Amino acid sequence: MMNSIKELAGKRDLLLNQDKMPLFDALVQYAKQDVTPFDVPGHKMGSTMTPLKQVLGEMTLRMDVNSMKELDLLSHPQSVIKEAQELAAAAFGADHAYFLVNGTTVGIQAMIMAVCKPGDTLLVPRNGHKSVMDGIILSGARPVFIQPEVDYHFGISHGVSIGSVERAIQEHPEAKALLITYPTYFGSMSDLQAICQLAHANDVTVIVDSAHGAHLPFMSDDMIDPISAGADAVTISMHKTGGSLTQSSILLVKEERVAPEAIQKLLSMLQTTSANYLLMSSLDVARRELVMNGSERLHQLRPTIDAAIAELETNSRYEVLKPDYVTKHFQQSYDWTKLVIRVNGIGLTGFDVYTMLKESYGIQMELAEGYVVMAVISNADTAESIGKLVNALQDIERRFGQQNVIMSTNVTADQVNQLVISPREAFYAEQESVFIDDAIGRISADTLMIYPPGIPLVIPGELISEEVVQQYHYYRETLGEVLIEAKEANHITVVKENA
Ligand SMILES: Cc1ncc(COP(=O)(O)O)c(C=O)c1O
Repeated sequence: MMNSIKELAGKRDLLLNQDKMPLFDALVQYAKQDVTPFDVPGHKMGSTMTPLKQVLGEMTLRMDVNSMKELDLLSHPQSVIKEAQELAAAAFGADHAYFLVNGTTVGIQAMIMAVCKPGDTLLVPRNGHKSVMDGIILSGARPVFIQPEVDYHFGISHGVSIGSVERAIQEHPEAKALLITYPTYFGSMSDLQAICQLAHANDVTVIVDSAHGAHLPFMSDDMIDPISAGADAVTISMHKTGGSLTQSSILLVKEERVAPEAIQKLLSMLQTTSANYLLMSSLDVARRELVMNGSERLHQLRPTIDAAIAELETNSRYEVLKPDYVTKHFQQSYDWTKLVIRVNGIGLTGFDVYTMLKESYGIQMELAEGYVVMAVISNADTAESIGKLVNALQDIERRFGQQNVIMSTNVTADQVNQLVISPREAFYAEQESVFIDDAIGRISADTLMIYPPGIPLVIPGELISEEVVQQYHYYRETLGEVLIEAKEANHITVVKENA
């Protein structure tokens, strides 16, 4: 009883202290001291790197230091990193938070390895990010893929349905864990609360790739964040929508089903022993900013987004993906900070418009697909930045719009690739490089994908079908390049036959 009162008091203090930035403050204080460094990094607080110092400023380099007593150690946090992580855990409603310096990628790998031993079954959406596939290879988990909902009108995929999760759990009672992408890159959100209830009732642990959802707990709308929905472990890319520096993410854990010790051990294995303090301290600052001002800023932005969508759709053939549409057709909710704009109605591909926006209007979009371009809105946006995008799109339609509508079965290909051997077996098998057109019927040892969004067309262990090869050619022609590991052009690495 005493303990739980103490625990509650501790939690209350953490919630009350969200304006604090223990790690950032300690780092700034150290950087301001008159220290003679005989430790690494060898640039010695910027004394030898003039061009970098000129651009970044002296303070940035003085803050680029290594672990030491007063700045704590990421792999064994005892003081300021520990405090900063505890504040982050409280801000996101988790029991534990772990700072990551290799993005959500390393968090996903650690989550999978923590919940699946080699050979354990992991239920996973087929439109998962490359890091999920790599986590499967590293862990030796046996993936069972769940097909996501395909949207033929916008040419994208959404989250998985509760029905398909239910089927997967019924067909695989041995499943140890389920990975959900929430929200998807395009902003759709499955019914995570129902999915968690169903999974837990069947003793399946739920881990969540929330690379695009760091802002969710701070939305004033009725969007539920993964921890509140009941997830057991979640990784969020604070650097994507939470305001921290690129590469910095947070892994959140609820300890009922995921052992914090296992997570800490895995992160110590997978992450560098020289974690970057600029990245880590930016997590401390971004967490404070989200808690103190996040909701208000995002709330203020909503009418601006709604007005921009209305203006863009008036007298035009553009169409914007909206929450009502996603709910009506796919029974999923939608994160309105993603602006997915269907452009194939003006006779151009998403790739054409993406390039035009960059080259003629100085606008960098997040991604393009066959039918759409996507903008990510954050609380750093303003009516002015959003207005610039709307004006540019209107101008593109006026100047370059065609009468035809572009449609291609390659964009909405929803073939299910056959997994012949596990991704890990394929990874370690003897391999050879073959011409892509000759690869039909062979087992891939390569990951073939377009980036972004980084969702593989084929992964190691899957049979290369005619559709996969067709998609490869489509993306090469429309996009110019497809990411593939094989060195020679138009080649793919496959598993050697009879190997
Ligand atoms: C859905 C999804 N998951 C995971 C990642 C990996 O995140 P990070 O870049 O933080 O490593 C990404 C990156 O784009 C992503 O889109």
